[in-house]
Amino acid sequence: MREERPEDPTPEDPVVITPCPNGPLLVRGDVMIAPEPGAEPQKPPRRVVALCRCNMSSIAPFCDGSHKLANFRTRPPRYNIGSPREDADESD
Ligand code: FES
Repeated sequence: MREERPEDPTPEDPVVITPCPNGPLLVRGDVMIAPEPGAEPQKPPRRVVALCRCNMSSIAPFCDGSHKLANFRTRPPRYNIGSPREDADESD
């Protein structure tokens, strides 16, 4: 059985997704992952997982570090999550 660490998210914490520059999406929290559309969702082995977004991983949907060898580059974020859009309806 895996030892819990103080920084590990608990089931009560919200799920947090962090896009790593030039790397994977870090997902922290109690989630289920369907490996492909229509597949049965499964609980990942950890509460913090790295999901590949370079499409080079041999263990997809998880990151295996291949993005570094592939020199995968992301674009800088073009928006702030949680900030109201100028064109958004105030009643949303
Ligand atoms: S993002 Fe790491 S292997 Fe694809």
